[in-house]
Amino acid sequence: MHEYTNKKIRIFVIRKIMYKNLEEKIKACRKCHLRDTCMQVVPGEGNFEAEIMFIGEGPGENEDKQGRPFVGAAGKFLEEMLSLIGKKREDVFIGNVLKCRPPGNRDPLPEEVASCWPWMMEQIKMIKPKLIVPLGRHAMERFLPNQKISKIHGQAMRREIPGIGKQVFYVLYHPAVALYQGSLREILKADFKKIPKVLEAIEKGDKGDFNKKRNMEDKEEKNRFEEENKQEALF
Ligand code: URA
Repeated sequence: MHEYTNKKIRIFVIRKIMYKNLEEKIKACRKCHLRDTCMQVVPGEGNFEAEIMFIGEGPGENEDKQGRPFVGAAGKFLEEMLSLIGKKREDVFIGNVLKCRPPGNRDPLPEEVASCWPWMMEQIKMIKPKLIVPLGRHAMERFLPNQKISKIHGQAMRREIPGIGKQVFYVLYHPAVALYQGSLREILKADFKKIPKVLEAIEKGDKGDFNKKRNMEDKEEKNRFEEENKQEALF
């Protein structure tokens, strides 16, 4: 029992270090020109072992100033909705497809999205969420191209992501849009309240496979980390 707990703590610490390393790499990224005009990189925040990742399109002005995702009016609304399902920001992961604010909030160029996308993939690989919730049609488009948000919002969908495997998505209207369109606000709240049921269904559907897979990947990650650090110490 004691040994089991120690092992769990060790894996947790290693995962935390690995996530911090990834975050530092994202913050140092200069792969596109957006870094020249934004104030700071916004890698995302929250629980690096979260079951749910909420993903928006990109940082706006407030996020750029504070270096944190969803801190403006839309973020407040998102927090309000999280409380509907008994969760706080720190229980989930909140991030964006783009980590740097495009000047004047213009639409990102395809090459900007392309150079940022591998960071999103690394975050998903490390966090291993049960559910990814793209917020709004732009974020949806990156994960589930050629879909209509008016059709697929509030519906769980499973899709293969190259390099990651099968992943469940649950698209929601963007909180900023819903804030200014009363009719969407109620739809968004109703969709949001279904999240716990979606999580339950994922667990039941996987019949424990999800947790088994996660434990196996954790072990592999721990071994890889220890191996890499052993090599570093040798030279
Ligand atoms: N809208 C987004 O898509 N992301 C943020 O971080 C803030 C607003």
